[in-house]
Amino acid sequence: MADIVIKNARILTCKSSGPKFGKYMQELGIIEKGFIAIENGIIKEVGEGSGERFYNEHTKIIDAKNKTVLPGFVDPHTHLVHYGSREDELDLKLKGVPYIEILKRGGGILSTVKATRSASKDELMKKIKKSLDLMLLWGTTTVEAKSGYGLNFEDEVKCLNVLKDCGHPVDIVRTYMGAHAIPEEYKHDREGYIKLMTEEVIPYVAENKLAEFIDCFCEEGVFSIEESERILLKGKEYGLKIKIHADEIEPMGGAELAGRIGAVSAEHLVAASDEGIEAMKKGNVIPVLLPGTSFYLRLGKYARARKMIEMGLPIALATDYNPGTCPTESLQSIMVFASMGMGLTPSEVINAMTINAAYAICRGNEIGSIEKGKKADVLIMDAPNENYIIYHFGINHIDTVIKNGEIVVREGMLCYKEGEFTWNI
Ligand code: NIG
Ligand code: FE
Repeated sequence: MADIVIKNARILTCKSSGPKFGKYMQELGIIEKGFIAIENGIIKEVGEGSGERFYNEHTKIIDAKNKTVLPGFVDPHTHLVHYGSREDELDLKLKGVPYIEILKRGGGILSTVKATRSASKDELMKKIKKSLDLMLLWGTTTVEAKSGYGLNFEDEVKCLNVLKDCGHPVDIVRTYMGAHAIPEEYKHDREGYIKLMTEEVIPYVAENKLAEFIDCFCEEGVFSIEESERILLKGKEYGLKIKIHADEIEPMGGAELAGRIGAVSAEHLVAASDEGIEAMKKGNVIPVLLPGTSFYLRLGKYARARKMIEMGLPIALATDYNPGTCPTESLQSIMVFASMGMGLTPSEVINAMTINAAYAICRGNEIGSIEKGKKADVLIMDAPNENYIIYHFGINHIDTVIKNGEIVVREGMLCYKEGEFTWNI
């Protein structure tokens, strides 16, 4: 018997036994008129018909009325934990001052570092909960979140603990990203900061299981290829899995590095070379593309998603939610940039935000598709088909969100009770 059955649903199952690559990114595994039976937070069955055999007097039956039903969105790249905002940079940005130039002047990431260091754990917690509520309202049920605005031992650990202790329904996968910028106090001592990370912070973070991944901003004027390799491999030595901000602005060879050192994913990749794409393919690296950032940085170009798909790679998409280069929690907005900016089809976009995004954070066996045995993270969107979700843009199509088998958004409104959700993954 089931706790919940969703019936009369047009289900985009996104089912797959691995990341969907190349032409398989077009396949959504659609059930035109189907049901999903949910019990104890898990999908018990999915199929055609209305699933009557799973009903008893306690079953909650949701009639989807032919709306589109799909897996909860997975956002595999965010800088969720930070304090303050940077709307004051908008003017500089519009005048054409480059992003890295703003950082060099002590603004950008470094101004958010100041605000984050002076915020208490409670203040940060309150801020991330507000963002997580927004994510849930717009359909995101699992999120990867990086540190990287503390930059010293104490504040990086504070930020990772905020993510660990937050107890929000949205599941959070944590990444240590001390290598986000060189902090002011180490401006004249890069080596000192790298030593702090590799000798003190990484061992502590790994031993205390504060993060599962390590990430590094490999970019001209931030961390070089050699520095990135050294930092990321130290993380690997301590059991952290590798992600890398690669070739976001300049073609540095970050994609090649990702392939060479066994990264799970490489992110951004706007300037990735052909050799870099080849290296990612060889190394089974998942490209996580962030078209909202290309748009917001006014780069005038996007990552070469079509080329990557042609070469048989599995693309994932993410918000990059952060206060500088992409201040939005909404994956539905990113869908539009992915489609209009990079030429991805609605089917490719949806696979990139569900099953492939789940694999990009090593959760492909638990989430990212509507399949028997997976977590019951399910969205009902008020749209007749997948094309409509992107076609009618700038609005929230979410009707219902089910997270771990519980209804947390109903008729587009949050309805979970604070404190009832205490798990984390
Ligand atoms: O992914 N590139 C580095 N980090 C973020 C931006 C962080 C910020 O500007 O605060 C990004 O774009
Ligand atoms: Fe980022």
